[in-house]
Amino acid sequence: MTGIKVVGTGRFLPAKIFYNDDFDKKLDTSDEWISSRTGIKSRYFVTDETNWQMAAAAAKKAMEAANVNPEQIGAIICATFTPDYSTPAVACVVQRELGLRGDIPAFDINAACSGFVYGLKVAQSMMIEMKEEYVLLIGSEVVSRMMDFNDRSTCVLFGDGAGAVVLMKDSSKAFYSKLGAEGNPEALSCLGANFPNAYIKMDGTKVFKFAVDAGAKAINEILRQSGLSIDDIDYFVCHQANKRIIDFIGKIEKIPKEKLYLNLDRYANTVAATIPIALDELVENKQIKEGSKVMVLGFGSGLTWGGALLYF
Ligand code: UT7
Repeated sequence: MTGIKVVGTGRFLPAKIFYNDDFDKKLDTSDEWISSRTGIKSRYFVTDETNWQMAAAAAKKAMEAANVNPEQIGAIICATFTPDYSTPAVACVVQRELGLRGDIPAFDINAACSGFVYGLKVAQSMMIEMKEEYVLLIGSEVVSRMMDFNDRSTCVLFGDGAGAVVLMKDSSKAFYSKLGAEGNPEALSCLGANFPNAYIKMDGTKVFKFAVDAGAKAINEILRQSGLSIDDIDYFVCHQANKRIIDFIGKIEKIPKEKLYLNLDRYANTVAATIPIALDELVENKQIKEGSKVMVLGFGSGLTWGGALLYF
């Protein structure tokens, strides 16, 4: 068995906080509409910060928390759909910035809001044949670059930020996960950064329904694989897109409210970064400790979805 254990977490948020009331009056939205329909109250937006700077800052904290040095890391994976460059990958810039070895793979993956969950499976698969014990997995996004600030149906939903984890091989455990994608490029999309009007476009209602179904489906699949029940899981960390999506998933799966982590009120949807940011907060607040079991669930553009069980 090649299981994985999370041995360090970190996060980085840009300096600028942007509240619901800060949107341009011409947008014709309100704090009341945004917070009641989504649960979002504020988010962070970059001013000068780049994707790789946020990713490196979060990764540095995760490595310090794990007490690992650069020599011990066997791969760097960054989940993002908003890299600074088309090439090189954010992961390669982080590699140089943190002085990581030059003989290990460093690359980005794009599975949108499911990117971090996809990254866990990629990392675990690579670890089976890797001689090193640790992989650095980052989720980092500058979503504000791809937002149309004249489109109230999307621009109020997102924020910028980065989270990172250090994963360690753990042969005493299995790795339970499920990934999926529906081959639907219309429901939620964003043209490449070099195209004119490269903004996020979304059929909110369709994505909402998909997200609830996907979250519930992933939970059932991982419980089936692992033989565990809801009671055995300490926390469920859903991708933070909308509080009502998470409430619905909790209701369908009969998950006690206190096990469903929520921080989207402060960060909004940071796409691939929502889950590692949440994990870092849970560790910092001592809500997750050595021995905790956490189920992470992602759903988003693609339409991709997935879930995994994490041991701490
Ligand atoms: O990571 C995955 C990414 N995205 C998501 O998961 C998002 C999934 N979808 C959602 O969260 C919700 O569908 C939204 C929050 C996007 C929309 O909520 P909703 O309750 O489904 O609202 P709606 O789209 O049905 O719109 C209702 C009304 C419309 O007005 P009319 O046609 O009823 O007059 C919209 O024009 O609300 C209007 N509206 C707004 N009003 C004020 C839409 N956005 C806004 C806004 N402020 N920001």
